[in-house]
Amino acid sequence: MPNPLEDNEVNPMEIARLAADQIADLTGVASHDIALTLGSGWAKAADLMGETVASIDATQIAGFSAPVVAGHVATIRSILLPSGKHALVLGARTHFYEGHGVRRVVHGVRTAAAAGAKTMILTNGAGGIKPTWTAGQPVLISDHINLTASSPLEGATFIDLTDLYSRDLRDLARTVDSTLDEGVYVQFRGPHYETPAEVQMAKIMGGHIVGMSTALEAIAARQAGMKVLGLSLITNLAAGISPNPLSHAEVIESGQLAEARISALLAQIVAKL
Ligand code: HPA
Repeated sequence: MPNPLEDNEVNPMEIARLAADQIADLTGVASHDIALTLGSGWAKAADLMGETVASIDATQIAGFSAPVVAGHVATIRSILLPSGKHALVLGARTHFYEGHGVRRVVHGVRTAAAAGAKTMILTNGAGGIKPTWTAGQPVLISDHINLTASSPLEGATFIDLTDLYSRDLRDLARTVDSTLDEGVYVQFRGPHYETPAEVQMAKIMGGHIVGMSTALEAIAARQAGMKVLGLSLITNLAAGISPNPLSHAEVIESGQLAEARISALLAQIVAKL
């Protein structure tokens, strides 16, 4: 079945509305307060945050499709937090490098907004540029540089991106772990990892984290009026910063090693929202 988001005549906001209605029906939760996209290494947070009310196969929901990357899961979960708030966990990220277009990339965020979420937590596994960082370290995203040459906004839609990654939410995260460092996330298209020269470029531009997701999603979240908290797990030092070559296996392994620790951190942050 073709994905409706690939039809240019279709309004992506209408598909997000439809998806949100389907999620409300299937979970029995009329409205969600918080949404999370859990990237490499962060998935266990869903188990720690609260009680899973419903878990749905994302491919049942309008506009979603199966993830292509081993280690990524395609479920959407509704979780009741101890505070009584409802969190929607999106385990089905579509990456820009998959080539399905930016509408598909931001559909999860738009669906979360249509489902009522006012706060969007975006997590990922990424390469670190700061030489003091080590693999397995979580860091806050303070801002981004979007090198995808794309935007989820269509037409003359001028959206302010000042304080895109909410300072308030970063401060709140630091009340849980005062040692959390932060940095500017640079989104490359991928799926190849960066060359050492590209990492140096990102560094000179003011970047500290390199990855292949999140920036486009954050823009869509802001368009939808959500507050954004961005968290990266440094799975490896970026190409050329580390003397070792990069591998997807290393990225997955770092995620697995750090998973329990960073998931507990994220669950504690969510409890304070
Ligand atoms: N670069 C881009 N994306 C990544 C990296 C990296 O070094 N590590 C994990 N995802």
